Amino acid sequence: MKFFIDTADVDEIRGLAPSGFLDGVTTNPSLVSQTGRDFREVLEEICGLVSGPVSAEVTATDPAGMLAEAETLAAVADNIVIKVPLTWDGLAACRQLADRGIGVNVTLCFSAAQALLAAKAGASFVSPFVGRLDDIGQSGMELIADIRTIYDNYPALATEILVASIRHPMHVVEAARLGAEVCTIPPAVLKRLAGHPLTDKGLEAFLADWSKTGQSILEG
Ligand code: E4P
Repeated sequence: MKFFIDTADVDEIRGLAPSGFLDGVTTNPSLVSQTGRDFREVLEEICGLVSGPVSAEVTATDPAGMLAEAETLAAVADNIVIKVPLTWDGLAACRQLADRGIGVNVTLCFSAAQALLAAKAGASFVSPFVGRLDDIGQSGMELIADIRTIYDNYPALATEILVASIRHPMHVVEAARLGAEVCTIPPAVLKRLAGHPLTDKGLEAFLADWSKTGQSILEG
């Protein structure tokens, strides 16, 4: 499974890059707004830190406007993937961008029918928002399972399932269990994946016992 980081905060990405876990980055207009910075400048910096796909979202809602914005965004770096909303017009823009060889991430996906259309429109990624579905009492993971089944029924569909709106580590575990190709994870959740109280307790006990030996591994 690939891990993308869901942030537009360049400092956070810089801090996490040495972990080797960053296979890509997703941004959205809300995340960019939180930075208070120029979008293109932010994208340039992110693409300098991460060689995998970096999703940059258009804000026009008509196909011509989306295509014009996509052209500007795609010119920032070779690894930019254009994010378009899962609307009728977004799907039309997706088809045209895919036909030009530009990677597209179709975002704001909330149903299996939408995911099927995204794949037929040539999307490189579809982003089902599991947390936002859970928030309204629907199962985000049931949607991932449905999309997995549908895509597996038609091997010619090359779209990758990019699980988005992740709220906690179990979203990542369940997405991996279901075979989603990618999770885009907020930085705080990524760090929580490594934590377990028994790991902390076990380490504490090992170190306490080790100190009783009076030895140092480096000094022999
Ligand atoms: C995905 O690409 C989105 O940026 C993101 O995962 C949305 O998450 P949220 O529901 O926490 O805003």
